[in-house]
Amino acid sequence: MKTLTTLILSGLLLSTPASAGVLEDKNCGSCHRLKAEETEKGFTGPDLHYAGNKFQPEWLKHFLNNPEVIRPAGFVTDPGFLPKTDLPPHISSSKEDANALAQELMDLKISAPTPVTSEPLSKGLRARIKYQFERTFGCISCHQSLNLAGKIRGGISGPSLVNAGNRLQADWVADWLKAPETYTAKRRMPRYKMEPDTLDQFTRFLMTLKKENIK
Ligand code: HEC
Ligand code: HEC
Repeated sequence: MKTLTTLILSGLLLSTPASAGVLEDKNCGSCHRLKAEETEKGFTGPDLHYAGNKFQPEWLKHFLNNPEVIRPAGFVTDPGFLPKTDLPPHISSSKEDANALAQELMDLKISAPTPVTSEPLSKGLRARIKYQFERTFGCISCHQSLNLAGKIRGGISGPSLVNAGNRLQADWVADWLKAPETYTAKRRMPRYKMEPDTLDQFTRFLMTLKKENIK
């Protein structure tokens, strides 16, 4: 009888952490959407149910251990929002937890975007797309990016793209520009009709934006 009780108890103790997973253990789901079917809750952080499509694993590990601000105006879903200036910093996890969390996040996928080339742009093409990013399409009015001198410029109503090349997967960026409705229903970013060539060049341009290029 005693052994049976011990077996049941140790079974319970062992099975709880294994089935829950570290995202659940750390209660990340209290602010983030971790499953596609969770649509009713008003989340206070960005969607993570497609984290495996969107992020580069090394960036995730680094961010979770060493959080940085990505949305300088705060996370907002409301189109008529007022920017916040007193954002609390993101909770930071130990290196070990960050690695385990990143691994679980990389398993969360909702799509299989078409692979794109991440070949670097020629200098001339880069300057042309940068012009379109700022003038033709006005992306810069909502997104911070880097100018050719390596200075941060741009609006803050969208997520910062200053480190897009380290943070985002190229295939996901192209898919976001082509079919944002795959990832979000209540979008605030305008939908652009881009020719396939332009879309490809925009993706490659965004992938050149890296924080090590800040001067
Ligand atoms: C109190 C609410 C809250 C909790 C709890 C929380 N987060 Fe966040 N998280 C946020 C907010 C708000 C942002 C947006 C920060 C920004 O953009 O600067 C964010 C951003 C992120 C990002 C970057 C997402 C992106 O699209 O840029 C990741 C990854 C992330 N959180 C993972 C986690 C993990 C893993 C946990 C659990 C250990 C967690 N968060 C717990 C609120 C929270
Ligand atoms: C009116 C403001 C606005 C403009 C203009 C705009 N965006 Fe956005 N963008 C956003 C917002 C807000 C988001 C966050 C998702 C959402 O709420 O729709 C976003 C998300 C993104 C993302 C995903 C980043 C992430 O971390 O989630 C990329 C990449 C992006 N935009 C690129 C562009 C490009 C390229 C252009 C120009 C062709 C552009 N954006 C123009 C507001 C804008």
